[in-house]
Amino acid sequence: MSDFLMNTYHRLPVTFVRGEGSWLFDAAGKKYLDFSSGIAVNCLGHAYPPLVRAITEQAAKCSHVCNYYQSDVALAFAEKLVAACAPGGMKNVFLANSGAEANEGACKIARKYSLKKYGPGRHTIVTLRGSFHGRTITTLAATGQDKFHTTFGPFTEGFAHIPGGDIAALDKALDQKTVAGLLIEAVQGESGIVPQSVEFIEAAARLCAERDILLMCDEIQCGMGRTGTFLAFEQYRTADGACVDGKPLKADVVTLAKALAGGIPAGAVLAGEKTRAVFEPGDHGSTFGGNLIAAAAGLVVLETVNQSAFLAQIRGKGEMMMSEIRAWNHPRVKEVRGRGLMIGVDIDLDARPVLEAAVSKGLLILSGGTQILRFLPPYTISDSEIEQGLEIVREILNGN
Ligand SMILES: Cc1ncc(COP(=O)(O)O)c(C=O)c1O
Repeated sequence: MSDFLMNTYHRLPVTFVRGEGSWLFDAAGKKYLDFSSGIAVNCLGHAYPPLVRAITEQAAKCSHVCNYYQSDVALAFAEKLVAACAPGGMKNVFLANSGAEANEGACKIARKYSLKKYGPGRHTIVTLRGSFHGRTITTLAATGQDKFHTTFGPFTEGFAHIPGGDIAALDKALDQKTVAGLLIEAVQGESGIVPQSVEFIEAAARLCAERDILLMCDEIQCGMGRTGTFLAFEQYRTADGACVDGKPLKADVVTLAKALAGGIPAGAVLAGEKTRAVFEPGDHGSTFGGNLIAAAAGLVVLETVNQSAFLAQIRGKGEMMMSEIRAWNHPRVKEVRGRGLMIGVDIDLDARPVLEAAVSKGLLILSGGTQILRFLPPYTISDSEIEQGLEIVREILNGN
C-alpha cells in the first residue's frame, strides 16, 4: 500500500493499469470482471470507444472555460440533461463536479427558497435513516447514519432523520413551520440497496406539495439509467401513469453525479418549476462545474443511455441477475432485491471476506452494510459476463 496516499479507504491489494469493457487489468495482466463500475460510475464500462473519442476530441479543442462565459459543449450537455430529466419535472441545471457538491447545492436551493418565501427559521432538511449523501460536513449531517456523526462535529445544523417507509414519522417530521426540504434516495445505495415503497414516495410527494416543502431526489447512485429508467423515482407511478392525486410524480430538485459523465468527474443539481429561479448571480458557483471534457463525456452517456431500448435492456439484465441468484436457493442467501442493475444480496456471513475472495478470483464486487453484497455492473455487461461473475459468487458462498 502507498505511503503517499492518505489512509482513507480499506483498499484491497490490487493495482489496476487499464480497463476494457466490463474488465479491469492489473500490471501482471490478470483480468478482473467489474461488477462495481467504480461504485456506479463507469456505466458504459471501461474505455468505451465513443466516450474515449469524445473526451480526446474535446481535450484537443478546449478543456475548460470559466463560468463567466458560455461554451457550446456545456450548453448542449445542459439542454440534453434537462430534457432527460423533464419527465421528473426538471427545468434547468447547475453543473458541478461531485455528488456531495450537488447535494450541497440542493440544500442551498431549499434554504433560499424557504427563506425568501417564509422568512428565517424554516430551514430544516429531513432525510432518511440509512441514507448516504456525501462526505462534506453538511452532507455528512444530511446522511442518516450515526456512524458518520462521531468524529467531525460540529456539523451543519438543521438536519433531521426519519425511518424510510414510516409515513406517520414522515407526516410528523415535515413540519410546515420549520422544514424547507425532504432529501431522499428512491433506492438507497450505500446502505445495501433499499428501494422505498410506492406508498412512501407517494406520501412524501403529496405532503411536500401540500406544505410547500421541497421534494429533493438524490439520484446520484440510482439515477442515470441504473435502475432501468433515467431517474429511479420515475418508476414511482401507479400502473396508469398517475400518482399524487392523479398527477405524475415530479420532484422540485434532483441531484446527479457518479455515472453522469461515465467516469469523468461531474455532478448536477436540477431544479423544477418552483425552484428554477432560486439561484441568482453570486449565490452559487464552482470553478470546474460544467468542465468541457466532463460535458463532452456526459453527452455520450446521455445519448447512449437515455434510449428506451437501452433502458429496457438494463431492466432485463437486472431481472436476469436477480432471478438467477434467487434460483440458487442458496442457504447463505437471505434476500435478493433491487431495481435494474442495482442489486443487493443479503447474506448470512460478513461481506468483506467475500469481497476479498472475489478479488483473488478476478471479480470486483461491493458491500453495502456488513452482510450485504452490492452489484452495480456496467450497463454494457453481457449475459455471459453476468453468468461468469455470478458463478464466482456462488463458488465463494459454497465455501470454495
Ligand atoms: C446517493 C449518494 N449521494 C451522494 C453521494 C456522494 O457522492 P460523491 O462521492 O461524488 O461526493 C454518494 C456517493 O456514494 C451517493 O451514493
